[in-house]
Amino acid sequence: MAPYETLLLERRDRVALLTINRPDKLNALNIRTRQEGAQALDELREDEGVRVVVITGAGDKSFVAGADIAEFEGRTALTQRDVMTARSLFTAVDAFPKPVIAMINGFCLGGGCELAMSCDLRIASEKARFGQPEINLGIIPGGGGTQRLTHLVGETKAMELILTGGMIDAQTAERIGLVNRVVPHEQLSDETLKLAAEIAEKSPVALRMAKEAVKTAARATLDEGLRREIDLFALCFSSQDKDEGVRAFLEKREAEFKGR
Ligand code: COA
Repeated sequence: MAPYETLLLERRDRVALLTINRPDKLNALNIRTRQEGAQALDELREDEGVRVVVITGAGDKSFVAGADIAEFEGRTALTQRDVMTARSLFTAVDAFPKPVIAMINGFCLGGGCELAMSCDLRIASEKARFGQPEINLGIIPGGGGTQRLTHLVGETKAMELILTGGMIDAQTAERIGLVNRVVPHEQLSDETLKLAAEIAEKSPVALRMAKEAVKTAARATLDEGLRREIDLFALCFSSQDKDEGVRAFLEKREAEFKGR
């Protein structure tokens, strides 16, 4: 795997661990990090040995504390628009064909919260803190925050977080549906990697179809979504994994999915 300046990329069996590695800046996302993140996802997409990706932040304090505010100074509207649209890390995670889990080890703010929300599952340390503090800088979320947060937790809580710029703790984030699970800080890595390994045993074909079908719910009408689900469900019947899954059940053994 290519070396990156702002990321660490390691493999643990079928799970890839992608760590945003700027701990002295609380892993704030600068342009380089966004570019390298999208590049790393390209690499992981092609790698058949990787079935699940876990994204986390380096150090003990922060997942990602947002966009790198230092880069905002003096930036024009058009340049900022280009930064957000050129090759969005958030869109790359969202559209990634394998499950992506955010392992949230601390501050999860602004672009960090947007990155976590682009992932498919979010496991948080009890020390994690969440927020969309952009309003305090005189701006608004620009990496999908106004949309994804509203889809995930509803307009009531999304509006409150975005208008106040305040932070919530991990328990509150779990209660409002922003994260799947909160675990003790020292168990975060074990619990997340266990979940990732469990998902990595499933059929990669079915995982891909399932992710696409669920993501469609936020983007289509119910009728369109139901039609898309039938197409994706039917597509599973063209896979060897479906033959293996059904045969293994009937033969009372564990299925061995190959992603074909
Ligand atoms: N962009 C750039 N640098 C950031 C950053 C960001 N989003 N968040 C933190 N940093 C830097 C700090 O400037 C500081 O750098 P320095 O040591 O060179 O001065 C370092 O990371 C440590 O942060 P610090 O503020 O000293 O830590 P803290 O524990 O006192 O506070 C936060 C933590 C998260 C509350 C605070 O850093 C913060 O409010 N960050 C900005 C969050 C934000 O608004 N994100 C949305 C951006 S659109």
